[in-house]
Amino acid sequence: MRHPILPVLLCLAVGGFVGCKGGGSMSSEGVEAGRWGDLDGDRVQRFTLRNGNGMEVDLCDYGAMVTSVRVPDRNGISVDVVLGFDSIEEYPQKSQYFGCTVGRVGNRIAGGSFELDGETYSLAVNNGPNHLHGGERGFDKHIWTATQILTSRGAGIRFTRVSPAGEEGYPGTLEAEAIYILTENDELVIEMSATTDAATPCNIVHHTYWNLGGHGSGTVLDETLLIDADRYTPVDATLIPTGELAFVDGTPLDFRAGKSIGSDFGAFPPNGDDPGGFDHNLCLNGEVGTIREVARLSDPTTGIVMTISTDQPGIQFYTGNFLNGMTGKGGAVYEKNGALCLETQAFPDSIHQRGELGWSDVVLKPGTSYGHVMVHRFTTD
Ligand code: GLA
Repeated sequence: MRHPILPVLLCLAVGGFVGCKGGGSMSSEGVEAGRWGDLDGDRVQRFTLRNGNGMEVDLCDYGAMVTSVRVPDRNGISVDVVLGFDSIEEYPQKSQYFGCTVGRVGNRIAGGSFELDGETYSLAVNNGPNHLHGGERGFDKHIWTATQILTSRGAGIRFTRVSPAGEEGYPGTLEAEAIYILTENDELVIEMSATTDAATPCNIVHHTYWNLGGHGSGTVLDETLLIDADRYTPVDATLIPTGELAFVDGTPLDFRAGKSIGSDFGAFPPNGDDPGGFDHNLCLNGEVGTIREVARLSDPTTGIVMTISTDQPGIQFYTGNFLNGMTGKGGAVYEKNGALCLETQAFPDSIHQRGELGWSDVVLKPGTSYGHVMVHRFTTD
């Protein structure tokens, strides 16, 4: 179901976007915007970015999220490679962080507490004994303020929100921003940034579920993945890193040469409550803070290739192990392992490894700024 097209009205309502096109032509470049629905009485908007090569990206201000990415396959047929839902109401109901901006701290914090400057802070324990993805109502479950932008790289949307001091137990008022830009080079650029008025951990993460064969096309086990990482962070039974930065050599996590995701999948079988599959943080090669290509994913059927470049130290490779056959867009069925997430990030539980060699400091201080860039580039082979 496509959202209503109200381009001209929304150019005015959202404010002064120069590239906004009237007429709603599906082939035109630029941005369309419209009301998608309501959540708890609040209006939720959806936006479509288009470039001149037939690529389209749908975004939503609830969770500052991506709801669709449509790219031409090797035969020029448009394929939606992102899992999502037809109605906004389904996102909070089927909440597994589909497409959203996760914060204030993505991934896990051991025991749901941390110490900072002599104070102990208690957070929601919402994932076994640990804190996950910002708590009970993290950044993914709020409506952000949206502004249409036109940059030299292409049209986009800037989402902002102020996370008040004390929200989900975190100190400091955090002013957060997530910018999405679609370029004429077939890149979806995501730039996440934040500032604070008091020291706080900050690790904002993007959580799209990808299936380059098309959402609902079965599992991703036949897709080929390369991750440029010599090391990973081994974890305990609750997915908290032990602190070791282990080499991937000789382990199923050695994706340096590129391999089918299914080839070593049996190394992580289901075990009790653990659904099995990949759910690991790899330590990316190259200099932290420098944008470098770190991952390449390709699908044998559509020929669609996605590379990811980032300035971050780590990437959570998660094979949709908790997907459970729920119904997605257009009645598609999202079976277990029917998608994967490649979440660039600071290493999980970094707050408890401060000062350790190889671990970055996730504490954001007043007067400094947090920055995180992800570039998804689409081609075919
Ligand atoms: C991350 C985590 C997973 C899971 C998903 C959301 O990728 O590492 O364990 O919680 O988010 O379902």
